Amino acid sequence: MNKDSRILVTGGRGLVGSALLRTLRSQNFTNILAPSREDLDLMNTGAVERFFKEHQLEYVIAAAARAGGIKASGTFPAEFLYENLVIQNNVIWQAYRSNVRKLLFLGSSCIYPGLAPQPMKETDLLTGPFEPSNEGYSIAKIAGLKLCEYLYTQFEKEFISCMPCNLYGIGDYFDHERGHVIASLILRMHEAKKNNIPEVVVWGSGNARREFLYVDDLADALLFLMNQYHQKEFINVGSGTDISIHDLAILIQQIVGYEGKLIFDPTKPEGVPRKLLDVSKMHTLGWSPRTSIEEGLKKTYADFQLVHS
Ligand SMILES: NC(=O)c1ccc[n+]([C@@H]2O[C@H](COP(=O)([O-])OP(=O)(O)OC[C@H]3O[C@@H](n4cnc5c(N)ncnc54)[C@H](OP(=O)(O)O)[C@@H]3O)[C@@H](O)[C@H]2O)c1
Repeated sequence: MNKDSRILVTGGRGLVGSALLRTLRSQNFTNILAPSREDLDLMNTGAVERFFKEHQLEYVIAAAARAGGIKASGTFPAEFLYENLVIQNNVIWQAYRSNVRKLLFLGSSCIYPGLAPQPMKETDLLTGPFEPSNEGYSIAKIAGLKLCEYLYTQFEKEFISCMPCNLYGIGDYFDHERGHVIASLILRMHEAKKNNIPEVVVWGSGNARREFLYVDDLADALLFLMNQYHQKEFINVGSGTDISIHDLAILIQQIVGYEGKLIFDPTKPEGVPRKLLDVSKMHTLGWSPRTSIEEGLKKTYADFQLVHS
């Protein structure tokens, strides 16, 4: 991509999209389009078709999706399947029809079987059943990565996909219903500290292990892939290390400065026991993340305080 290439970032107001826009702007890319949902509803096929015709885009990073934590994806599987299919089909197909040079589709580590061997390699796709709470989301993401692969093979379109692990960082949704684990724990511990609430309940036993990547590192990885990855096979993007939810909660407690008690509730769902990506493909290509979990959490909480105090 050149600094004046016409680039579309979908989902530009989201966690990933906003990090990507920060990074692109800091690297002096000058010709970026990032319409909001009000300007371009990606569920509207006709509007997406007109948009692509009008703007003659060269590159697309497809970061818009119906996304959310385990609570949201388990409660609304129909919407997670349907909306993601429609959004990604509209964007990928219109990008193909309007001759976009390269497209990067964002999937998720949820595509892998719930009990996949750890760490999960790209070749573990479709080797077992999904974790039930995110089945709809996973099926949509697999349809997206397959559509990119087929366009790559059938029409030699450089449409690639990556599967990020759990993300967190500046611009996350600090929301009880929709939030991912880190945003939700920060919000609840911050509120408990402010209101002198003696306990915070954490969903699950605390034993589940997860991998987290700071979103600005993901943005860096996405630009790396746009410039240097030329294979139809999707690729994992992660930090390469995992942490138990127990240890994560303690770390967040220290950073937030919450002095109450953490109660781990094993009757609440906690998802699969472990989720760690095999990121050796990215390492071999020469990319690795820069931000430690402690550093990333501190930056995230600082951003949260700016917005919520
Ligand atoms: N966050 C994670 O932990 C994680 C992990 C792995 C993969 N991913 C993937 O990374 C991508 C970005 O995730 P994210 O965390 O940035 O999600 P997010 O914060 O929820 O942002 C999603 C963005 O998509 C936009 N969007 C949704 N429906 C739309 C529609 N109909 N028309 C136009 N825009 C629409 C949203 O617009 P509004 O701002 O108007 O709502 C929002 O800007 C997704 O594909 C997700 O599956 C995320």
